Amino acid sequence: MSEPLKVGVIGAGYLGKYHIENWRSVKDAKLVGFYDPDQANAIAVSDKYELPCFESGEDLIEHCDVVDIAAPTDHHAFWCEKAIKKGKHVFVEKPLAASMQEARRIVELTRESGVRLQVGHVERFNPALLAVQHLDLHPMFIEVHRLAQFNPRGTEVSVILDLMIHDIDIILSIVKSGVKNISASGVTVLTDTPDIANVRIEFDNGCVANLTSSRISMKKMRKIRLFQKDAYIGIDFLEKKAEVIKLKEEADEKTFSFDIDTPTGKKTIAIATPTIPQVNAIQRELESLIASIRNQTRPVVSEMDGLLAMEVAHQILEKIANNVVGH
Ligand SMILES: NC(=O)c1ccc[n+]([C@@H]2O[C@H](COP(=O)([O-])OP(=O)(O)OC[C@H]3O[C@@H](n4cnc5c(N)ncnc54)[C@H](O)[C@@H]3O)[C@@H](O)[C@H]2O)c1
Repeated sequence: MSEPLKVGVIGAGYLGKYHIENWRSVKDAKLVGFYDPDQANAIAVSDKYELPCFESGEDLIEHCDVVDIAAPTDHHAFWCEKAIKKGKHVFVEKPLAASMQEARRIVELTRESGVRLQVGHVERFNPALLAVQHLDLHPMFIEVHRLAQFNPRGTEVSVILDLMIHDIDIILSIVKSGVKNISASGVTVLTDTPDIANVRIEFDNGCVANLTSSRISMKKMRKIRLFQKDAYIGIDFLEKKAEVIKLKEEADEKTFSFDIDTPTGKKTIAIATPTIPQVNAIQRELESLIASIRNQTRPVVSEMDGLLAMEVAHQILEKIANNVVGH
């Protein structure tokens, strides 16, 4: 049996602390320490988790096999480059980087070095999504709402790169078709970049996704609704619930169903609430990187997935810039 992979966390803020907690439950991984430039925070985190704080990120990287980057987005590219050039595997929080140029550079370096890099699109591991992933998903119309209350964390980038990017990534993973056209409108309210946005993405296969994201809402909501010929699939990422409404040939005893009369005859409609797996999404995503390193397989959310989500996000930002509603 080989030694566990040594892991170090760069950036021990809101999310970095969750990662520190979760790495401890990941099999085949050993957390060796972390780096955070905020001295007071570093001491507090080191005390709380009884974990060594390294003097520099470079020193931490030397002592690791896997570097987990949970620093603010505008520092992702810097630390990815340092880690990859030392041949270390990388987990980097979403979005992959702050600019397309940085994102492309990370992809290029990852390819050249052959390390595994996973992007922190943690919603891919949300139990509500996992509960419907076995279904044949081929939506023709998608409705998305991701609404959050204002929080200064994450405002170094727009609501598109901060919040909507989660949904862009999920939709691209489900639709698996090229993007034909994007229309978008955004409003800049509390920060220097759009805080709310509405986007319509048309895909080559005819699917249309309508996304609304806000980081200045009174209420929280994180829902994706998929409409396809034979089914409606509702996924609630916040409440961790899912609902599937399907047209069936005939009623069965296991599912709640009822008949309706339609112009083409009687139809049976079945409503199911899939069983939600009891999983911790952060632990799952970290485990999945370790598995991809050990098995030499593509990470579930690879550097290319991170780049594709950013490409769509940037097209959206360009559309919004050409269609300014804010100032
Ligand atoms: N996957 C998700 O759902 C999710 C949720 C929240 C945040 N995030 C992402 O995680 C990252 C961090 O966000 P956060 O909310 O934890 O922010 P945060 O501000 O709470 O934490 C960032 C930490 O990084 C440290 N830091 C600052 N500059 C640094 C540098 N140059 N090098 C190393 N560390 C540095 C800060 O001292 C701070 O402790 C962002 O990229 C954000 O988009 C992802």
